[in-house]
Amino acid sequence: MKVVVTGTAGFIGSHLSERLATRGDWVVGIDSFSDYYEESAKKANIVSLRKLRAFRLVRADLSTYKVERLLQDADVVFHLAAQPGVRGSWGSGFSHYVRDNVVATQRLLEAAAKSKVRRFVYSSSSSIYGDAEQLPTPESVTPRPVSPYGATKLLGEHLCNLYHSNRGLSTVVLRYFTVYGPRQRPDMAFHRFIEAALKGVPVTIFGNGRQRRDFTYVSDIVDATLSAAEAEPGTTFNVGGGQTHELIDAIGIISDALGREPKMEFKEVAEGDVRSTSAGIDLIEKQLGWRPQVNLKGGLRRQVEWHLARAKAR
Ligand code: UGA
Repeated sequence: MKVVVTGTAGFIGSHLSERLATRGDWVVGIDSFSDYYEESAKKANIVSLRKLRAFRLVRADLSTYKVERLLQDADVVFHLAAQPGVRGSWGSGFSHYVRDNVVATQRLLEAAAKSKVRRFVYSSSSSIYGDAEQLPTPESVTPRPVSPYGATKLLGEHLCNLYHSNRGLSTVVLRYFTVYGPRQRPDMAFHRFIEAALKGVPVTIFGNGRQRRDFTYVSDIVDATLSAAEAEPGTTFNVGGGQTHELIDAIGIISDALGREPKMEFKEVAEGDVRSTSAGIDLIEKQLGWRPQVNLKGGLRRQVEWHLARAKAR
């Protein structure tokens, strides 16, 4: 297969691209290397990937780049590129979210519909649910995002459904729940907590730390994303870790793995943050036979090892 992965140098995109290229697919990885976090971190994510013959990197901004040529003989597009981050999506930063999550997605869908792409997989987010009225949340619940970020990811989903129903593009939507593991984005909670603990500075907790998340390990996310290439077109699936944990408990697991306890500083709840997420995963289990394999303790141990190895290499 020839596949296109957008956001290839990002946290999840780099893991997905690596898996595809090592199993024998031809991968065209697209990334704009946006300045949301350091370019050096993204370049580090793809060091091994770039050594693989089956991988080609294209540096391009999907909101302006003429992407048609790259899609011409592609079988599957995995669209992971996005402006991420719940808490930074208020205020003047919002225009980046519209450009990268809405305009870029529409342009890519348009190009995919015109080419012979067999499947278009869109990576959405649990943030589209907001404070969901039902926990665990099945895909059928009406989405009510509580952050501008969530609103743009939901609009991306609507666009996928439109290109499916009106243009016959074979789209599948995946709603990822708080993904963690090696290479996690530097703005995300576990990354920040582990780095703070290593440096001996306090971790900042928004709220009382009792918020719950359905944390999902990155290799489970990759498995689900690959299986979405074979799913029924027009379907939306939750992809969650199968268990929820309070943030404070995750800090306990990190402390055990590091053998040291970070100091904690509590701040106000962040605007747009939801209280709890919990993924209903019956649909993906039934239709794709997917179940999460990695629990929080095992996954956090691997993430801590990655941070330690990185610190040692510096
Ligand atoms: C994460 C990602 O950042 C989004 O891009 C993604 O779309 C979303 O998951 C999702 O699943 O939909 P979030 O759940 O906020 O968003 O994940 P974290 O950034 O890891 O934050 C988890 C919790 O820790 C939040 O309540 C946050 O306020 C808190 N937190 C984060 C802190 O208390 N301190 C920090 O320094 C960072």
